[in-house]
Amino acid sequence: MKIAVTGANGQLGRIVIEQLKQRMDASNIVALVRSLDSAKDLGVEARTFDYNKSELLEGALQGVDRLLLISGSEIGQRTQQHVNVINAAKLAGIDWIVYTSLLHVDTSSLNLAGEHIETEKALKESGLTYTILRNGWYSENYTASIPGALNGGAFLGSAGDGQIASAARADYAEAAAIVIADDAHKGKVYELAGDTAYTLTELAKEISVQAEREIPYNNIPEEQYANILLSVGLPEGLAGGLASWDVSASKGDLFDDSKQLSQLLGRATTRIAESVKSVLQNQ
Ligand SMILES: NC(=O)c1ccc[n+]([C@@H]2O[C@H](COP(=O)([O-])OP(=O)(O)OC[C@H]3O[C@@H](n4cnc5c(N)ncnc54)[C@H](OP(=O)(O)O)[C@@H]3O)[C@@H](O)[C@H]2O)c1
Repeated sequence: MKIAVTGANGQLGRIVIEQLKQRMDASNIVALVRSLDSAKDLGVEARTFDYNKSELLEGALQGVDRLLLISGSEIGQRTQQHVNVINAAKLAGIDWIVYTSLLHVDTSSLNLAGEHIETEKALKESGLTYTILRNGWYSENYTASIPGALNGGAFLGSAGDGQIASAARADYAEAAAIVIADDAHKGKVYELAGDTAYTLTELAKEISVQAEREIPYNNIPEEQYANILLSVGLPEGLAGGLASWDVSASKGDLFDDSKQLSQLLGRATTRIAESVKSVLQNQ
């Protein structure tokens, strides 16, 4: 049985490959990447795979039984890119696609939801067996702001009192490997999030305790937050995105208490305090 993973050189994909190698012989794993150089250290067969090059996708999937389609990172182009992959998978005779979607995508106000909804629809209409991993927020999305918060003396955001049930990227990656290695998960749709939710005020308190310095949370309007992110060098699309995703967080769109992620993992998800600690240790 051959399992292929798209985006295998990305941050999530690399951990998925490591996790799969712990569960099966490496010769059964295929890394699908845009640049073969980026997969040299993965220790598995690598094949060239660009979501935009639809004519090359079917060939790259020959002999593959199961495909983990990790959603792409080029926002705005992803529906067509994912549809290209689904069509190629069908032509190549893939048995089962597992797709990384977005938490509560059918009710989410996140502007990322549309492309995931369209991809889920394409999957359902493809006639292929599918499983959907509706991934919640990576804790790293917030802990990446810790160095800036320490420099500026405050943690900034627009998430108000929204409860955020994030988990470590590695938790989602491990769950993806567990799911695609086991037939029992065929046809399932999972809402995946951390076991324990927190507000950004609580996150700032945790940072303060661990850094032994008072770092308050300053909740600011979306536009002001986007402008600050722009001023520290983030690209316009990402600055606006981060601010708008925080507003969605304030509405509860990053919250979930179903604990499906820890049920898949057979252990608790990584606590936000641990994610804070690992960032502070590398400061
Ligand atoms: N749940 C969350 O909090 C969260 C946060 C961020 C992202 N995401 C989503 O989850 C995905 C995985 O997360 P991540 O942290 O691993 O992101 P990442 O490190 O940015 O990895 C994205 C991967 O997608 C690949 N990719 C992008 N465009 C492609 C294309 N046209 N053809 C083939 N491959 C393409 C990239 O390949 P290259 O190296 O060649 O660019 C890379 O391997 C992201 O792409 C995004 O959809 C979720």
